[in-house]
Amino acid sequence: MNEKLLDFIYRSPSPFHAVENCANELREAGYTELYENSGFDVSYGGKYFVRRNMSSLIAFRLPEKSFDGFMIMAAHSDSPSFKIKEKPGVKAAGIYAQLNTEKYGGMICSSWMDRPLSAAGRVIVKNGGRLETKLVNIDKDLLLIPNVAIHMDRSVNEGKNYNANIDMLPLMGSEKLADGFEAIVANWAGCEKDSIVSTDLFLYPRCKGRVWGAEDEYICSPRLDDLQCVFGCMQGLVNSKGSDSASVFCVFDNEEVGSGTKQGADSSFLEDVLFRCCEALGKNSSEYRRMLANSFMVSADNAHAVHPNHPEYADRNDRPEMNKGIVIKFNANQRYTTDAVSAAVFGEICNRAGVPTQRLSNRADIQGGSTLGNISSSHVAVNSVDIGLPQLAMHSVMETAGAKDTEYLVKAAEKFYDSSLEIHGGIVEIKA
Ligand code: CO
Repeated sequence: MNEKLLDFIYRSPSPFHAVENCANELREAGYTELYENSGFDVSYGGKYFVRRNMSSLIAFRLPEKSFDGFMIMAAHSDSPSFKIKEKPGVKAAGIYAQLNTEKYGGMICSSWMDRPLSAAGRVIVKNGGRLETKLVNIDKDLLLIPNVAIHMDRSVNEGKNYNANIDMLPLMGSEKLADGFEAIVANWAGCEKDSIVSTDLFLYPRCKGRVWGAEDEYICSPRLDDLQCVFGCMQGLVNSKGSDSASVFCVFDNEEVGSGTKQGADSSFLEDVLFRCCEALGKNSSEYRRMLANSFMVSADNAHAVHPNHPEYADRNDRPEMNKGIVIKFNANQRYTTDAVSAAVFGEICNRAGVPTQRLSNRADIQGGSTLGNISSSHVAVNSVDIGLPQLAMHSVMETAGAKDTEYLVKAAEKFYDSSLEIHGGIVEIKA
């Protein structure tokens, strides 16, 4: 399972690639692509997916007959990186060519230094009167951000303040290449340099993930947050047979920058897809809302495992350990959507799948990060739980997680999609 996960992540250097790989895997599993600017031609027993901006995706599988709710899992396609500016070439120190970049999301800057990097994303190509999107991955060790030697900066180990406009620009080659990046991109995209009219390109580390530890108990890879959850939820969906409820799998872009885009969790995407699906099946808006009241969402985004050198950052009791199962996240201020009901429902489903769960809450004096759940449920108000797999070094270029936990998520997701809920006031029945 981990080899397949690490390969999926390696083949997904940008959100566009991650969504493309999901689309291909779903197609292989019998899912048909629908387009938002066409009618939703759906029928009971069908399997479909929709993409928005090519960087977010929602897949859904309909039961054979009329249904009462949606079983939804959501994860995010993006990870912190550096976006390459539209005019990328920069000359440096009179002899080098660098790329001009800016931060995308909040990364651990030091982890990006001194390792081979490249660029991936999409380019828009003008072809006659048409503007065509092409995915591009420059599959070559092309760039590197060099540290300053300790001899020149004796304070480097005393908490360095990285300036994104100065310290983080990647070196590409000699000065004569300062205007050469566009030609390299065109070459890898298979088009003429002058036909590229605009780009969304991001840096990515070239290293492939691997299994490590004395007993192979860990995995490390770039982008485990959150492609580990994307992969786990999708495998669970593909392995599952479905229930009386519709199965829904969401991959949202832009979680790392607040989700506030047309394709992010803070958009109409999920609501649009669910409502149009109901509409196509002849259901009215009141029936749609009734179904939401009978639905459940799992927001899956990785969680912090207790750190070996800094256990003091973890809570007294709720301190997730790698290889000990899925983390259910709690927060009094509802930065995580979990409440007593949703924790109980998801915990019971994991129980039935034979998957262990554990709890995360932040120290009462530390504010944790936010995630998809509370943002999404302000648009599609359903019972929700926030979960994730425990990991170290979140937002480092190389993150570490437990070797057993991917499989736990796959099994839990499979069981989740094979279940449906019957809700009567304060009583929830989970039907297999
Ligand atoms: Co995340």
